[in-house]
Amino acid sequence: MKPDMSVTIAGINLRNPVMTASGTFGYGQEFAEYVDLETIGAFITKGLSLRPRAGNPTPRIVETPGGMLNAIGLQNVGIEAFIAKKVPFLRNVQTPAIANFFGSTIDEYAELAGRLDQIPEIAGLEVNISCPNVKQGGIVFGTDPKCAADVVTACRKATSKPLIVKLSPNVTDVVAMAKACADAGADALSLINTLTGLAIDLQKRKPVLANITGGLSGPAIKPVALRMVWQVARAVNLPLIGIGGIMNATDALEFMLAGATAIQVGTASFINPSAAQEIAVGMEAWMVANGVADIKTLIGALEA
Ligand SMILES: Cc1cc2nc3c(=O)[nH]c(=O)nc-3n(C[C@H](O)[C@H](O)[C@H](O)COP(=O)(O)O)c2cc1C
Repeated sequence: MKPDMSVTIAGINLRNPVMTASGTFGYGQEFAEYVDLETIGAFITKGLSLRPRAGNPTPRIVETPGGMLNAIGLQNVGIEAFIAKKVPFLRNVQTPAIANFFGSTIDEYAELAGRLDQIPEIAGLEVNISCPNVKQGGIVFGTDPKCAADVVTACRKATSKPLIVKLSPNVTDVVAMAKACADAGADALSLINTLTGLAIDLQKRKPVLANITGGLSGPAIKPVALRMVWQVARAVNLPLIGIGGIMNATDALEFMLAGATAIQVGTASFINPSAAQEIAVGMEAWMVANGVADIKTLIGALEA
């Protein structure tokens, strides 16, 4: 018998728990020739801002042991071009598209949430709070519970669509951040974003990335991400989306045991653009081999 792989996250019904992570899957269309979009649960757009952004100078990606460091600098087409050029493609896709977005002030976050709220092709919003608050001297929204709560409150007021808050791992207490976002009205939490890192070129005595630091992703961050999902799952009563170094079906299923209702595939898509689809297939095969009829029975089923 075919196992039941469906899950619901923040009111969005997914045929299976596999989503693609923001910044690693374009706006969906770019990957349509590698992934049958109707085989994955949902996909997340590249992070959107009010105005287009060219991103950081190059080099902005470097491979590191067990992962990669990126400092793309949130390059994106901006909300206007997204609506005009990217949204039409979404009309013929049955799979939910979730818009990731960010601002540098609370007002920008709220304005974007309001704009995205008006787009019927968008099933939900994922707000990236790992951005510096220009009005408060560059303090990153996602590292201060009060700041994060203010962003979530403002976005919550601006949209009635499902609101997913994406947490940064660059904090001392991820549970405090999760609780602040839950109390402010988040419908679900996704975690984790990249961990800040540095790569050095010894001979040049210089950082490899033009931006100096970058965000670490890939297998190297999986244990950190699993630990954070597990901690937050025990403390906050919201559905979680697990992200961080998921390269195969085993990784994905581990995140579900830790407490994730759904998962996102990021860096793996750079190595194999069909990774997300293959992970969904692999999860189903594991369920069949292990007599698991409903994937929901695995959520938080870690025996610890
Ligand atoms: C090149 C690149 C660009 C990214 N851009 C975004 C972004 O625009 N918004 C966001 O919330 N996360 C962004 N991320 C973070 C990923 O969505 C994901 O949280 C992170 O890479 C960890 O997952 P992974 O180890 O599977 O890659 C980006 C990651 C990479 C590698």
